[in-house]
Amino acid sequence: MEIRTGDAADADIVVIPVFAERIIAAGAEYGPDLESIDALLDAHDFSGKSGQTLFVQTPDGPAPEVLLVGLGDDVTVESIRRAAGVAARATKGYASVATLMGGVDIDGAGDAAAIGTVLGAYSFDEYKSDPKTSKITSLTLVSCDMSDEEIASALSLANGVVLARDLVNRPAADTPPTALAEVASGLSVEVEVKVYDEDEIVEAGFGGLIAVNLGADRPARMVVMRYSPAGAEKTVAFVGKGIVFDSGGLSIKPAAGMETMKTDMAGAAAVMGAVKAIAELGLVVNVIGITPLTENLTGGSAQKPGDVMRAYNGKTIEVLNTDAEGRLVLADGLALAAESEPDLIVDIATLTGAAKVALGPLIGGLFASDDEAAELVLSAAEAAGEKMWRMPLEAEYKPMIESDIADMKNIAGRWGGAITAGLLLSEFVGDVPWVHLDIAGPARADKNDHYISKGGTGFGVGTLVEVARAVAAS
Ligand code: BES
Ligand code: MN
Ligand code: ZN
Repeated sequence: MEIRTGDAADADIVVIPVFAERIIAAGAEYGPDLESIDALLDAHDFSGKSGQTLFVQTPDGPAPEVLLVGLGDDVTVESIRRAAGVAARATKGYASVATLMGGVDIDGAGDAAAIGTVLGAYSFDEYKSDPKTSKITSLTLVSCDMSDEEIASALSLANGVVLARDLVNRPAADTPPTALAEVASGLSVEVEVKVYDEDEIVEAGFGGLIAVNLGADRPARMVVMRYSPAGAEKTVAFVGKGIVFDSGGLSIKPAAGMETMKTDMAGAAAVMGAVKAIAELGLVVNVIGITPLTENLTGGSAQKPGDVMRAYNGKTIEVLNTDAEGRLVLADGLALAAESEPDLIVDIATLTGAAKVALGPLIGGLFASDDEAAELVLSAAEAAGEKMWRMPLEAEYKPMIESDIADMKNIAGRWGGAITAGLLLSEFVGDVPWVHLDIAGPARADKNDHYISKGGTGFGVGTLVEVARAVAAS
């Protein structure tokens, strides 16, 4: 999609935001006059609440059609992003769209209008014979004074989210670890990528990744992306869970629980999308992206309940349930990240059903080694419009993961499953400030909603980009 600033003259349709108090933003010149608008809104019971849309025929206007979109009472960057997403969905049949969303008088309105439009126009059509892909190829931001660089930046972020969505939405059959490693290798010329193949994984001692991969025919990969711009003083490491399919292994999942388990590499996808966006944005901060990649299957050599694996930092884990595999591969990824002594580690993973039970499908669970790291990531998430809620790493629960024969075991009792998973991860980060994001809920949406599309959401990309921005500024 090409995005520029300008007027609506050549557009096929003009999108006009409507506030709850019914004021048309930035001039009614494109639509019917204010008086007839009022009558129209009354006739259609259009209150301007968030998500509402109304097509208006204006044969005499400068563009053939107008779409009114509600912004809700509380106009924020997020409400503009959402309204832009709603508008993009409603105007998917038009090639050239002009929008006044970016002219709303708050900071970041233009960014929000551009990003919301790109994400709202998204659909995953790679396997459709007759795709209903959005026709929007040109978006004009009316009465919006963004520079070309600012527009390019907004597009970089949106494209990072689109990449993450695509990677999640592609079937596991077509995204083996080797294919994802290749995607990582091609992210940007600014990003140097090291891919550990099966021999190098053994040589390095990534015992968690090896253990989970035992049941799979397709080999594992450990990917390390490094973005190291000139002048960078701080370093942030991102670690993303990359289980390309989670059958549960021998502790096999029921059929229904397996249906969406191609999503289990959403953490890795978010890291790749974020690293690409950060490099394009040229943020002045070192970023290390680490993604352990494998599938969790039930082949004849699969790991068995009761087996013990040794992670990269030498610690041993008794595997009592092979479906608690994410923490095994993250143990290696986190220990590898800690070795570089970054200023902050953030891991992101579709780690536990318990996090989804606790917080539902829209909110990610956030666990942190300290308050400062927690605050940094919470405000990054807020800026990105991604909901995260801090959960406790309760030390008194540590005995729940004690093993009779190894340093720890990979499952605890029934209660507090997201917490005990986080406690296990904490054994692998050393003293480095660390935040763990459990995105089991929000990684996937079961319906289209504003700029969120059904399927992979790309959740986490925005937060990680904002984290990099914050670390760069710290
Ligand atoms: N990938 C799943 C977690 C998950 C569940 C993500 C539902 C998204 C939606 C993870 O590997 C898993 O299976 N976790 C188990 C852990 C349990 C065996 C301790 C779970 O949550 O049931
Ligand atoms: Mn699992
Ligand atoms: Zn999993």
